[in-house]
Formats: sequence, structure tokens, C-alpha cells
Amino acid sequence: MLKRLDELEREGQRELAEARDEEALQAWKVKYLGRSAELGRVLDGLRSVSKEERPALGKRSNEVKRAFETALEARLGSLASARLEHELQRERIDVTLPGRPLFRGRLHPATQTLRQILAIWAEMGFQVYRSRDVETDAYNFELLNMPAHHPARDMWDTFYTTTPGVVLRTHTSPGQIHVMRERAPEPIRVVLPGMCYRYEQVTARAEIQFNQIEGLAVGRNITFGDLKGTLTAFARRYFGHDVRTRFRAAHFPFTEPSAEMDIECFVCSGTGCPVCKHTGWLEILGSGMVHPTVLANGGYDPEEFSGFAFGMGSERISMLKHRIEDIRAFWANDLRFLEQF
Ligand code: PHE
Repeated sequence: MLKRLDELEREGQRELAEARDEEALQAWKVKYLGRSAELGRVLDGLRSVSKEERPALGKRSNEVKRAFETALEARLGSLASARLEHELQRERIDVTLPGRPLFRGRLHPATQTLRQILAIWAEMGFQVYRSRDVETDAYNFELLNMPAHHPARDMWDTFYTTTPGVVLRTHTSPGQIHVMRERAPEPIRVVLPGMCYRYEQVTARAEIQFNQIEGLAVGRNITFGDLKGTLTAFARRYFGHDVRTRFRAAHFPFTEPSAEMDIECFVCSGTGCPVCKHTGWLEILGSGMVHPTVLANGGYDPEEFSGFAFGMGSERISMLKHRIEDIRAFWANDLRFLEQF
């Protein structure tokens, strides 16, 4: 009997050492320490053993039982710490890895240009005035000296709304009337940025929507010289201090006289290239002295007041500055384009 117990202990310890997981340990526990385990049967059978043998056998059985229990405990413990170790390895964070880049938003190139242009005007004392995108025919045309059926209306292909007499502004000039009516008879120096809409064929050079920046100065002694000087100063600040400019006679119903300003083509420095269509010059804005009728419509007596106005397309200007060849890139939302700015 004692010999069998020795054997049992050896077998048990060997099998325990081979048990690889929790499940195997449970099975082992049933086999060696469970109700119907051999060891249990030995203990149960002690009564039928002779008095002389009983103490030694009982002692030995209990020893084996305790040895099994301690060994099992130890195995369970080492299994648990192995599992913990494994988990820790798996979840380990390498703090020396380089960080993942965060995607940062940025300003749209159209907004960037708008802000740069407005900053220059702000330095020159022009306040920003916001005007509406949806206008009446009166403000967009009539009060700007273009009565119904005036042929000059053809210069602005218009989006009409379903409400008669309500249009999407085709230029920022209607804002001139709004400011004048609000400020008369105070002097005015404002810039009016905003989206304009034209019912046109979309091409590389023309979009159905674009930002314009209108400028308006009204006072008692404003001359064409002020207009030229102010716009030239702007061009120098925006395009560089040595940029050459020129004014060409033009026509707008709401200014008289009217002029368009060109800057020297910076691609060919004036010698002629495809960008300037071989003229050496790039048009950047329309301008003129505010027409007396327009001054009167704004509430200023044209005998006492004069003023100048201008309007520039800010996408056009940023195309020139950044040499962007297609205006459609501004609203196409292609990140490859937008992320260059
Ligand atoms: N409103 C004109 C346009 O859209 C530009 C302009 C503004 C011309 C102010 C003269 C004075 O073409």
C-alpha cells in the first residue's frame, strides 16, 4: 500500500508538470484530488487496514494529499502569472515610436487671399462692410444707373430667383448703395467682400460663383488721382513694390470716368506669353469715379461729394499670384490642390 502511494505521488507530480492550461489542471484535480480519486479511496479504505499499518498509511496518504494540493496551488499560480505576463506583452506600448500625424485643418486658399487683400485695405483705412448675397434688381442694377432693359445689363449674366425682382448679386457693387444710404452724409472708406454669382459657362477662367472685393471712398474732395494712387499702392503691397501698373479707359454705367487696372505680367515681365495672351499685361480690377446718379441714389449731393469705386475678383488675383491655371480648382474640393496652401 505504501509503495502504491509513492507511485501515485510520482505519477501525479509528473502529470501535473505536464498540464499546460487551466483546463488540464482541472482535469488533473478531479483525477488526483476528486471524490473518486485513488487517493480518496485509500483514505476511505483505512478502516479495513490492520491497526498496526493504519497510522503510517494514514500519515503517508495525508502527506501525498497535501503535497498534491501545494503543487496544484503552485501550478495555478504560475499559470496565472504567465497569463498576466502574456497580456502585458501583448498590450505593451512602445513610447519611443514616432507619433501618428494629426490632420490639421487650414484656411481655404480663397479665404487666405481674401484676408490678405482685406488686411492691406485695412492698413490703408478701409473698413470691411458686409452686404447681402441675395439682392433686388433695384440694388443690383437700377440704382447703379442701369434701368430695365439697359444694354449694359448684358455684362452680367444673372441668376434670377423665383421671386420677381430678386436676384443673386452679379457683383458687389450693390453694396455701394447700401453703405451710402446708411452713412450719408458722412465720408466713406469701405471694402465690401463677398460671393458673386453669374449665369455663365464654367471654364478655366470663369466660374458661376466667385469672390469680389468692392471698394468705395466718398468724400468732399476725392479725385481720379486718389483712385490711381490708392489702387497703385494696393498693387505694390500685394504683388511687390516694383510691380508696374497701368490704367486703361473702360466703361461701367455706375462710374464716370471708368478705368481698368492692369499689372505687368510677372510670368514674362511684359514681353508677352500665353498667360497674358501676349499683351504683357494682366487685368486685375475695374474702377472709376462714382457716377453722379449713383451718388445721388446713395443720398449724397453730387455737387458737393465725389468718390471712387473699384471691384476686383479675389480668385482671379490669387490665380495670378499663385499661378493657378484653372479657376475651377477653387471649388472642386480636391485636397491635392487645397493642401498646397
Ligand atoms: N462691378 C464691376 C464688375 O463686376 C466692377 C467695378 C466695381 C467697376 C466698381 C467699377 C467700379 O465688373
